Amino acid sequence: MLTAEKNRLITETGPGTPCGALMRRYWQPAALAEELDTPRPVKRVRLLGEDLVLFRDPSGRHGLLHRHCAHRGADLAFARCEDGGLRCPFHGWLYDASGACLEQPAEPAGSTFHLKVRQPSYPCIERAGIVWAYLGSGEPPPFPAFDCFVAPGSHVFAFKGLWSCNWLQALEVGIDPSHASFLHRFFQDEDPSDAAYGRQFRAATIGADIPMTRLMREVPNPRLESEETPYGLRITTLRPINDQVIHLRVTNMLFPHAFVIPLSREMTITQFHVPIDDTHCYWYAIFTSFGAPVDKATMRAQRLETHTLPDYAPLANRDNDWGFNAGEQADATYTGMGMDINVHDQWAVESPGAIADRTKEHLGYSDRIIIAARRMIFRAIDDVAAGGDPPGTIGAEAMRGPATIDAVGPADDWERYWQDQETARRRAAPWMLETA
Ligand code: FES
Ligand SMILES: [Fe+2]
Repeated sequence: MLTAEKNRLITETGPGTPCGALMRRYWQPAALAEELDTPRPVKRVRLLGEDLVLFRDPSGRHGLLHRHCAHRGADLAFARCEDGGLRCPFHGWLYDASGACLEQPAEPAGSTFHLKVRQPSYPCIERAGIVWAYLGSGEPPPFPAFDCFVAPGSHVFAFKGLWSCNWLQALEVGIDPSHASFLHRFFQDEDPSDAAYGRQFRAATIGADIPMTRLMREVPNPRLESEETPYGLRITTLRPINDQVIHLRVTNMLFPHAFVIPLSREMTITQFHVPIDDTHCYWYAIFTSFGAPVDKATMRAQRLETHTLPDYAPLANRDNDWGFNAGEQADATYTGMGMDINVHDQWAVESPGAIADRTKEHLGYSDRIIIAARRMIFRAIDDVAAGGDPPGTIGAEAMRGPATIDAVGPADDWERYWQDQETARRRAAPWMLETA
């Protein structure tokens, strides 16, 4: 439970807020690279409560500018994309990707007034199919060497989706190991709809011919541990099966708003939850394969069946009860909301309301990872306010992995077992860096 004041402190990320100052110390996902694959590569973007316009110039460089023209405030989302930059249709001022004003054609010939004008802009960088932006002041931190960023482009697939809620409750579902025993429960192990997203989640776990969903269903109250690391939190979930064997799952929180989990033996998912404003966020998921190249066309087509463009808004939402069906809830799924685990998570994050009222919650043992994450976020907010550096910003280029696993192994030696499995997986994917 939090006081109303602390709930505001940890959820509000607009300009001038303490948590907004924390968020502005990190690279933030601003758009999928594919969103600019259009004849006019210009896209309006709302990020951390700021209205911006993203574009790609003919050399492939991205610019993220304030929406309102530095001249007299016209909206640059309607700018002409020409002559290597964005040209405001009002009086023809031309800006490049860095916000420099290159031309002011209505001024007298020879005028140097354009040298005195800058359109506020933020640096951008493209990685893993996503355009990232740095909204802070000063130098951006180096980009971390996480698996999803060092894998070749053929082995990563990125997608996004809109959730109508605050960023924190989105994160708090993703890092919650307890919910998987319930929210994503299927009453049959075999999935009748072959194409359903999350089918991989019902794959056999390492070391046993048992789907991980069944293991989670049969042991609903796991032991939970977390450990602070340079990148965030390492989360260990232990489900004893009998005296000899244990189901172990290692997942991670990447500070401040992402998680990394194993989706199958070969695939991990790294998912960021970036505030659009205080009542909306985008999830950006990067699927990373340690095995064969990913089939991007199929994965994209699957996700586009459940989302509408250009906003990547989900078809299942509050207005249609997230597709709830009482008959299905009685005998097929725990939620009654279909086989798509992303819809289950969406209901869990959106149904508490746009900003969850944490003054009324009751946290137990099963919420200890949430408590650990909040503690870290509050501490980082204080550190940034005091002029310090938050987790994962200093030495980011040295941060690797992080390690994940879903396996059944020996109860008395599970730590060494999962580290051996992790090492073997990395050796089989030579581009992956060994974790420290
Ligand atoms: S308002 Fe943009 S050029 Fe005048
Ligand atoms: Fe989930």
